Amino acid sequence: MSQPRLRTVVVLAAGEGKRMKSALPKVLHPILGRTLLGHVLAAAEPVAADRTLVVVGHGADQVTAHLGEVAGHAEPVLQAEQHGTGHAVRIALESAPDATGTVVVLNGDVPLLRAGTVTELVAAHEAAGAAATVLAAEVADPTGLGRIVRGADGGLEQIVEERDTTPAQRAIREINAGIYAFDAGLLRDALGKLSTDNDQGEEYLTDVFGQFAATGETVAVHVAADATETLGCNDRVELAALRRLLRDRVNEGWMRTGVTILDPATTWIDVTVTLGRDAVVDQNTQLCGATAVGPAAMVGPDTTLIDTTVGAGATVLRTHAVGANVGPGASVGPYAYLRPEATLREKAKVGTFVEVKKSEIGEGAKVPHLTYVGDATIGARANIGAGTLFVNYDGVRKSHTTVGEAAFVGCDTSLVAPVEVGAGAYVAAGSAITRDVPPGALGVTRAQQRNVEGWVLRRRAGTRSAAAAERAGVTDGAAAAGAAERAGRETPGASEGEAIHRGSVAGEGRPASGDTATE
Ligand code: UD1
Ligand code: MG
Repeated sequence: MSQPRLRTVVVLAAGEGKRMKSALPKVLHPILGRTLLGHVLAAAEPVAADRTLVVVGHGADQVTAHLGEVAGHAEPVLQAEQHGTGHAVRIALESAPDATGTVVVLNGDVPLLRAGTVTELVAAHEAAGAAATVLAAEVADPTGLGRIVRGADGGLEQIVEERDTTPAQRAIREINAGIYAFDAGLLRDALGKLSTDNDQGEEYLTDVFGQFAATGETVAVHVAADATETLGCNDRVELAALRRLLRDRVNEGWMRTGVTILDPATTWIDVTVTLGRDAVVDQNTQLCGATAVGPAAMVGPDTTLIDTTVGAGATVLRTHAVGANVGPGASVGPYAYLRPEATLREKAKVGTFVEVKKSEIGEGAKVPHLTYVGDATIGARANIGAGTLFVNYDGVRKSHTTVGEAAFVGCDTSLVAPVEVGAGAYVAAGSAITRDVPPGALGVTRAQQRNVEGWVLRRRAGTRSAAAAERAGVTDGAAAAGAAERAGRETPGASEGEAIHRGSVAGEGRPASGDTATE
């Protein structure tokens, strides 16, 4: 003998949502971290149902795949042709023949519904021993919604779809939210008796209430304290309005737990995000997915964080980050791009116009300006000069670069992976490093500088540079001396023009120090 099933959740999600004008089924449109359907499933979670059935039809494959991703416990039930909400629930219950106790039905397009409201509805329903309980709300504009028609004693008489209303019923502002609790056995019987005698020729779930009221079963109305919870979504204008309402709700929630949000109107925090106390979020900021912002961290303005962790006291300014991990006290931006697996250890710095991918920046290490770091490990307290490129890709393979603890890489350097710069080593500015630099060594590949005296007066006569050189005391004599020196030294065929592109090995004794790297 099978166990009695005490609670079953049925989510209606087979409709097309024509007015969305979208290739995506309506219930899969996202707002703030979940799809419409995902929000409804989350609200139904505390019902602790034995089974959760989701009626799918339009875009059934897409909706089913989505369920697999976000709600492994939910079972899709196919309603191949959509003959109305009553028909949908009937099909769902056919696949749950052992359902007893309470059946909770939710429209799949009511994303602002709170879990607490569903719990209250079910508790009220079960306490009253009702045959059916509907969630209702008093709204300013009931257009398009089913009306709650009450009898002289104030009890529910029937639910009437707008297109089937009399003028007097049409004036009612108490509406059906599309969220219900039913007694399973009574519901099953009632669904078998539904007619299609209405303006749409559909089986209306709502007609079950009229049936029960007429046969003297207990029907109850649970009025939602916050009518915004019951708002459905039929087109993209409504979708945007729901998104704004949810944004305000989420922001308010975080502010009440001790987060400062400087401009709530331009701050969009997914319901899946967490923030620590005294975190500050500045304007035009989106926090998405599995993002977690630690206590007293500062994020924004103009920042998007997706699946990114920000440690306590860190600062993230005008940054786009995806799948990154910013350690406590670290500093990012302005204008940084952190890509998946970018990890900044405690107090590390990634500065302006820096892109980091799949790399670790060690504790207190600095990458302050204009740098690409890919597939690298940078040791603690290392300093990477402006314009350094971690050359990780040879057109076929990605390779790794290691920079040791407290190493110092001069500006405009290419580190051609695979390569290692040892602990405490220096790399001279402008070097292309293709071989390892041992710990404590200076790596230099830069050409030695030579100056061709008087070149500008000879080769750029009449320019503003030549005039400036003359004002600086350069004379025709110096120019001539430079030409003579060049004639005596250069190999045949080499032109003066080439000379400025040529070079030789850098001299010893002129290490890349303060002049070649940046703080
Ligand atoms: C329904 C209610 C209405 C209520 C409104 C609240 C009925 C008859 N009417 O109207 O009283 O005020 O919701 O939003 O129930 N669906 C299916 N299969 C179907 C038909 C619909 O799965 O055959 C799903 C839809 O995908 C949607 C939900 O059921 O998620 C509601 O359907 P919809 O067509 O939006 O009903 P409304 O006309 O809005
Ligand atoms: Mg609807």
